[in-house]
Amino acid sequence: MSTMRRAGMGYGRASLHTTPVSMKVDVAEVTDSLMKLYDEVPCQPIMVRLAWHDAGTFNKDEPETPGADASIRFSPERDHGANNGLGWAMDTLEPIKEKFPEISYADLYQLASVVAVAHAGGPQISFNLGRKDALPENCTPDGRLPDAGQRMGHLRDIFYRMGFNDAEIVALSGAHTLGKAHKDRSGFEGPWTHEMLKFDNSYFQELVKEEADPALLKLESDLALMDEPNCKALVEEYAANQDKFFEDYAKAHQKLSELGWDL
Ligand code: HEM
Repeated sequence: MSTMRRAGMGYGRASLHTTPVSMKVDVAEVTDSLMKLYDEVPCQPIMVRLAWHDAGTFNKDEPETPGADASIRFSPERDHGANNGLGWAMDTLEPIKEKFPEISYADLYQLASVVAVAHAGGPQISFNLGRKDALPENCTPDGRLPDAGQRMGHLRDIFYRMGFNDAEIVALSGAHTLGKAHKDRSGFEGPWTHEMLKFDNSYFQELVKEEADPALLKLESDLALMDEPNCKALVEEYAANQDKFFEDYAKAHQKLSELGWDL
């Protein structure tokens, strides 16, 4: 862990990030509040998407502008087309932020996602505190998140920029075991699996079926995983072995949640 970073000193543009590091946060208490929220409101999928869209704007060649910094809560980033619907997710977390003002928004958004995966029956993902919140001028430009209409070359451009490899692209795509697409948000419609509040390996089981289930969604970016032999082999492995998927997913998700930070 870097003490300089924890103290918020001496690392360029990121020193503009102002919220003090969440030193006095009781993670167990915040987790408990998030669990209660998910017991009452089935919003686990959109919380995973919120955290991913905040972190996924990261560029490994610009480490001074961390991905997971809650810059998504400010316009213009909040209004980017890719973030349609995420304003609701941020508003839904606001009462928890009010109850625990010492946690940064950046930590809260990432914790909300980690707890959502656990609540849905997925793996335990390691979580560390210490992200600082962006200022409005730290918003990232539009166009950094993947385009659902494109295949593997595009996914590589986007995910390699964040510092991920092919295996991590496959594992992270498995998050589509949760939730659905909404026509009014992305132009697409429907879930990827039959139990959209359950985190399991059914996303991969649906992908490997010879005859696609017409009730389920497959984006070009999902089908892309079958384009390259190395990715296809992993899809098949995850479809057959949920433990292996959970193990790899948990590591890739933690890495995503810490992009740009040394926690
Ligand atoms: C939903 C695209 C990767 C988590 C969606 C939607 C699209 C999309 C178009 C539908 C949004 C809506 O209409 O509400 C993509 C593309 C990816 C990708 C092109 C590139 C591989 C990821 C990753 C994660 C993720 C890496 C998390 C680790 C989710 C979740 C939903 C979702 C949980 C459901 C949201 C809800 O039900 O409200 N994604 N996604 N996606 N995405 Fe992705």
